[in-house]
Amino acid sequence: MSFATILSRSQQGLEAALVRVEVHVGSGLPAFSIVGLPETVVKESKDRVRAALANCGFELPAGHITVNLAPADLPKEGGRFDLPVAIGILVASEQLPPGPFDATELYGELSLGGELHPVRGVLPTALQGMRAGHTMILPAGNLGEAALARQARVLGAAHLLEVCGYARGLRTLPAAAAPPDSLPSAAVPDLADVRGQSRARRALEIAAAGGHSLLMIGPPGSGKSMLAQRLPAILPEMTEDEALETAAVRSLAGRGFRVEEWRRRPFRSPHHTASAMALVGGGARPRPGEISLAHNGVLFLDELPEFDRGVLEVLREPIESGHIVISRAARQSEFPARFQLVAAMNPCPCGHLGDPAATCRCTPDRIAAYRGRISGPLLDRIDLHVEVPRVGPAEIAGAAPSEPSADVARRVMAARARQLARQGRANCRLEGQSVPECALAEAAALVLLGTAMQRLALSARAYHRVLRVARTIADLAGQGQVRSEHVAEAITFRQLDRRAGSAAASPISA
Ligand SMILES: Nc1ncnc2c1ncn2[C@@H]1O[C@H](COP(=O)(O)OP(=O)(O)OP(=O)(O)O)[C@@H](O)[C@H]1O
Ligand SMILES: [Mg+2]
Repeated sequence: MSFATILSRSQQGLEAALVRVEVHVGSGLPAFSIVGLPETVVKESKDRVRAALANCGFELPAGHITVNLAPADLPKEGGRFDLPVAIGILVASEQLPPGPFDATELYGELSLGGELHPVRGVLPTALQGMRAGHTMILPAGNLGEAALARQARVLGAAHLLEVCGYARGLRTLPAAAAPPDSLPSAAVPDLADVRGQSRARRALEIAAAGGHSLLMIGPPGSGKSMLAQRLPAILPEMTEDEALETAAVRSLAGRGFRVEEWRRRPFRSPHHTASAMALVGGGARPRPGEISLAHNGVLFLDELPEFDRGVLEVLREPIESGHIVISRAARQSEFPARFQLVAAMNPCPCGHLGDPAATCRCTPDRIAAYRGRISGPLLDRIDLHVEVPRVGPAEIAGAAPSEPSADVARRVMAARARQLARQGRANCRLEGQSVPECALAEAAALVLLGTAMQRLALSARAYHRVLRVARTIADLAGQGQVRSEHVAEAITFRQLDRRAGSAAASPISA
């Protein structure tokens, strides 16, 4: 035999299309070529494979070796094709039997000595391989991650020689162990640590119950970052499907993905110096950004006005659509990005505007410029604006702990269960006309909302957002119908609309 085909997959966004690695060993002068739109890393595969085969005691067949990665129009990246290419050469030159590689996909980057190194994006690949009913052989270092695809037949190997021993029937390869179902008990910060701030805590609870976006405004050291960090602990647990989607994105990003944490809701807090690409993803070979890594979890933007305005603007579209499409000349990659946005900011550059205990020295122009860094359209997309004032010394020193996260989480769960039973999704995902339909608001509540819309010059989007928040408040209260008091409370969380334009210099708390 001078021809062999080995199966593998390429990676594009969360898609993992089947790739046939065809190897032909022909007569002619010794040469080795890889065709089929391979990128530089794949082209370098030649040298790694050549060295690995030699160091494992195999002969590189004399003659012209042609490797074709089909289909040719699919971009291929990374070192994942090293193993299929090496095995393809061994099968084509009859140094290994072809049988063991039927309906089997191979992945792995080879070291020059033949060790198999983990590759990026194994989980989405394993999920596709599972659907195709194929066996997969991949680097031992990727085994835990691949095991999240529960029904997949996955075998791990640490060295090229182990795969060869398996092909000759001399040894078995270890299968993936089932993934852990429970979360490791890490020390998660608790809401009991946060003193005072009853209004901000209420906003956090509403945000958690309905999945709403939240902006906290307050002086330095009032507990904004503290509150945000405690949000994941009061959110309902992720479903298995949600956890798998999130894990697939993390697997693609390839940065320190810890499998035992796969059920933990992500909490991402990129620094304000982050670039647009770091936030939404990108690159010549598109990778997921922070918004996708926060998929099904929380994206916390601390010191919001310090972010570059252009960087914040790229968030507008994914906030609404829940996904991001990154287009490059050669390809398009799509990543999910259904995140809950939580942001924090000071009321002015010095941070003390409206603070009774300190004097603000900012000029109106500076304050306007500071707030102006957050565009109206972005603010419009944030459901809840809440003030987080300075806590007094008596409250901080007070001995009584505040309500713990576990108690708040119970109310949040009950409210979320009501939403799922009524409309099959969280309130934050109600769109357009389905908002009034699901809100079941009483007439007086709608009149109140109409008046508020005029007074505060709310946009149609903000109108729906207020109604969605009111729906969540009613769910927390266990009420089927949205009443005036729910709408009234929801409106109190639109502080920045109230000051739109005119009063940048006025204190937030005025
Ligand atoms: N409400 C509070 N209850 C208990 N401790 C608090 C509270 N607010 C602040 N602290 C203490 O102050 C520290 C700083 O709080 P945090 O980082 O949340 O402030 P911040 O509002 O984010 O400030 P900045 O605007 O400077 O980012 C906390 O680690 C905590 O020790
Ligand atoms: Mg902070």
